Amino acid sequence: MLYADLPYDQATKTEFARAMFDHIENGTTDMAPEILEINPTVYTDPELAARERLELFGYVPIIAAHSTELPDKNDFLTVQLPNNEVVLVRQADGGVRGFVNTCRHRGARLVPDSKGRKRVFSCRYHGWAYGSDGSLRSIADEPTYGTVDRSCMSLLEVPVEERHGFVWVIDSAAGDRKIDIAEWLGHEFDDSLAAMEMDKYTCYVAENFDVDINWKVLMDAFLDGYHITSTHAGTVAPYFYNNAQFWQPMGRHGRMVSARKSIDTVRREEPGDVSIDRHITVAHFLMPNMSVLRQPDHLEVLNFVPAPGVAVGTRMQMRLLTREPAVTEEQKARWDKNWNILMAVLRDEDLVVNEGLQKAVANTDIGPLFFGRNEIANQHFHQWMARALADPRRWG
Ligand code: FES
Ligand SMILES: [Fe+2]
Repeated sequence: MLYADLPYDQATKTEFARAMFDHIENGTTDMAPEILEINPTVYTDPELAARERLELFGYVPIIAAHSTELPDKNDFLTVQLPNNEVVLVRQADGGVRGFVNTCRHRGARLVPDSKGRKRVFSCRYHGWAYGSDGSLRSIADEPTYGTVDRSCMSLLEVPVEERHGFVWVIDSAAGDRKIDIAEWLGHEFDDSLAAMEMDKYTCYVAENFDVDINWKVLMDAFLDGYHITSTHAGTVAPYFYNNAQFWQPMGRHGRMVSARKSIDTVRREEPGDVSIDRHITVAHFLMPNMSVLRQPDHLEVLNFVPAPGVAVGTRMQMRLLTREPAVTEEQKARWDKNWNILMAVLRDEDLVVNEGLQKAVANTDIGPLFFGRNEIANQHFHQWMARALADPRRWG
């Protein structure tokens, strides 16, 4: 089953269809009440970046992997998060735990590989060994080392929960952080994600890209349906409607519907009478730094992970998820083609523009920046960020 029907009830689909038909017909899009002015230092300020890591990413859950990237017992993945590099390990009981990738002895990087399967993690420096549950199993030449209470020397652990097919992590081993993804997402947004059955997808490809761009510049690029005609003229612009979005804020997060030009084949009909399933893209934007894009036949998941210690640096985690594992050459060719299009759009267009933006906002003499009324999802993001940092622990 290549194309899955849009997983929402008829009333929701009709609402999507009506909104998109109207916007396209009238040249409109959902709009915020006012233009929003922001200070460009949000993209450059090292002190703000440090606060974001500590006050935001140290408390709120973000996606670190798709569950199918850790299928079996003792499978591990190392994932760079804003505060810590973390090792995720599938446990004997089927759960996933996450550990800071630092040896408790003198701080060597315990697991140098990006993924694999191991029962025991041995530190290369002096040979201390940890179990897949993070416990310290052995100390090399222990009688000469000195007396140690091994139970206090387990790897430091971060909170992990699996939900909607993803492994979510709070990037802090402080010990007082509680992970509750359903609460974080809120009822309505949690239901919308659940409907997509992301746990039934499989991760076809996951890759990281390190760029010298602030993570919010990149989040902004994906929240924005206004730049397609101009930035993406060489690739996808002919296939998508520009600046025609249906935006539904859902608590902290939000859902955005955009249309492919192919919607023209049905948009003269009554919204409830036709299927728009193959003609729209539904994006879920997860605060603070993620987007899950549902294309008619696959999912694209993007995380913009702030690089540790700097304001201008992001690790983009990009994933393409498919309904069925790709087994045949034909299936692989199809998804490789999709991936290559995504890469071309990103590398040759979005990144070029946003590297330029990052350079330009470092100029000394620039005024404030402005998000238009049509850039409503971007406004949601920046207003949410401002509230979250002004009122820590409530997160807008
Ligand atoms: S630093 Fe890991 S064993 Fe010494
Ligand atoms: Fe773009």
